Amino acid sequence: MLNLVPPLLVANWKANLSPGEEVALAAAIAVDATSRALKAGSLMIAPSHLGLVPVASLLRREHAALNVKIAAQDCSDRTSGAHTGELPATHLVGVADAVILGHSERRQRGETGALIGLKVARCVAAGLTPIVCVGDTALEATVNQRSSEVLGQWREVVASAARSGCSEAALSGAGVIVAYEPVWGIGSDRAAEPELVRAIASALRGASGDQLRVLYGGSVDAQLAERFFHGVAAERIDGLLIGGASLTSERLLGIAAALGLAE
Ligand code: PGA
Repeated sequence: MLNLVPPLLVANWKANLSPGEEVALAAAIAVDATSRALKAGSLMIAPSHLGLVPVASLLRREHAALNVKIAAQDCSDRTSGAHTGELPATHLVGVADAVILGHSERRQRGETGALIGLKVARCVAAGLTPIVCVGDTALEATVNQRSSEVLGQWREVVASAARSGCSEAALSGAGVIVAYEPVWGIGSDRAAEPELVRAIASALRGASGDQLRVLYGGSVDAQLAERFFHGVAAERIDGLLIGGASLTSERLLGIAAALGLAE
């Protein structure tokens, strides 16, 4: 299928920067993005929880034409109430457009598919778009083994969201995005081959429909980005989730330029 919408770049800043540093980086990216004619709406930034409000305010106030979207890196499985230290999805409304859920760095801290599915349901109920991360763990495995591990994770999340009142139709209506991030490919210089990512995207769409948006994440740089989006491929990839390379404006916009999203 042809890629009819431009790819989405999601910059996941993790816990790398203080809120002040995040605002400075957002400002630098916005200035460069404007001078390099970044395609409006093609970039989403996921700052730390504390950086969400100042980064979103800066981008909306001073760089509205870029239409940069904002994502939180996680949210609570609780609704608002007496839950010390939690961040309910409803509190992100008006600040974030989307929420990254189930990142492998959170799964490694004990998050299960059941918990992630509940958070997904909270996001959808709040009107936010969930970006659900899935990824196989073994360095050595066949494409089929990787694909069945990833599908298993996805099905677990979908089933849990459904038990929490969010049907698969509601999930699809919320524009759910899946980010395929093989655990061995994150921050490792061992990015997955485009053929593997396409096979995983195809398996996910086989389970949830052709409209499902699938991103790739893991050691993405400009060179890799070009390989992913060069030519007309049989299976589309809808964008990239970028960690390390999103921490400088030059590298991030280099990726955008490699995809034809900026000059
Ligand atoms: P990386 O991180 O680009 O640094 O590998 C990607 C991610 O974890 O989202």
